[in-house]
Amino acid sequence: MRVVAGRNVSYVQPPLCVYHVHVSELKLLLTQEQIAKRVAEMGQQITRDFEGEAVLFVAVLKGAAIFLSDLARHVHLEATFDFIGVSSYGNRPSPSQELKSGWDSTGEVRLTKDVDQSMREKNVILVEDILDTGFTMTFLKKIVLAHQPRAFKIAALLDKPSRRKQPIEADYVGFKIPDEFVVGYGLDYAEKYRNLPDICVLPRDTE
Ligand code: IMP
Ligand code: MG
Repeated sequence: MRVVAGRNVSYVQPPLCVYHVHVSELKLLLTQEQIAKRVAEMGQQITRDFEGEAVLFVAVLKGAAIFLSDLARHVHLEATFDFIGVSSYGNRPSPSQELKSGWDSTGEVRLTKDVDQSMREKNVILVEDILDTGFTMTFLKKIVLAHQPRAFKIAALLDKPSRRKQPIEADYVGFKIPDEFVVGYGLDYAEKYRNLPDICVLPRDTE
């Protein structure tokens, strides 16, 4: 049972100690209904763009897993899945420090899991939860293009254009959002909140 009360959300969820911020303090940004409608439209667009062809979805772990599973079911083409993993180098501050200082990544990204198959001559759609500074996508784009795919497209559920530090854009964007830290529908804060059905803003003063 889920109740959306004003700008706050309340779910039947584990007790406070499980979370940094209890889910009742999160602000609702995008409801599961809004997300479902937009993801369906994105799937229809991809179906039209690649009519008569097969596509290979490459989802970025872990945040894009839920988006991929919903998006792919709205793509009525022959399709296969693969997964790629990345992480940022350097000593990250504590999650709360990271939240306050705006999550600026160092720009150094490393591969933690490569794809399992060749992308050569495939129509590759890289599926990502959110495009922020653009460092991750720029890094991944180079890897995919080195495989010489037939086509290369980026599908990002969320886009924070005001945060961009690299000149990269997604071909399919679900929602453009302001510079806020969001969780839910696959997106995490310190690995938590990924299973929330809506997308919510995490308050900046988290301890
Ligand atoms: P970029 O390299 O700065 O574009 O960052 C992309 C990655 O940062 C995403 O794949 C997310 O894992 C993470 N990220 C950026 N903004 C958020 C957010 O608001 N919530 C959760 N994760 C985020
Ligand atoms: Mg991610």
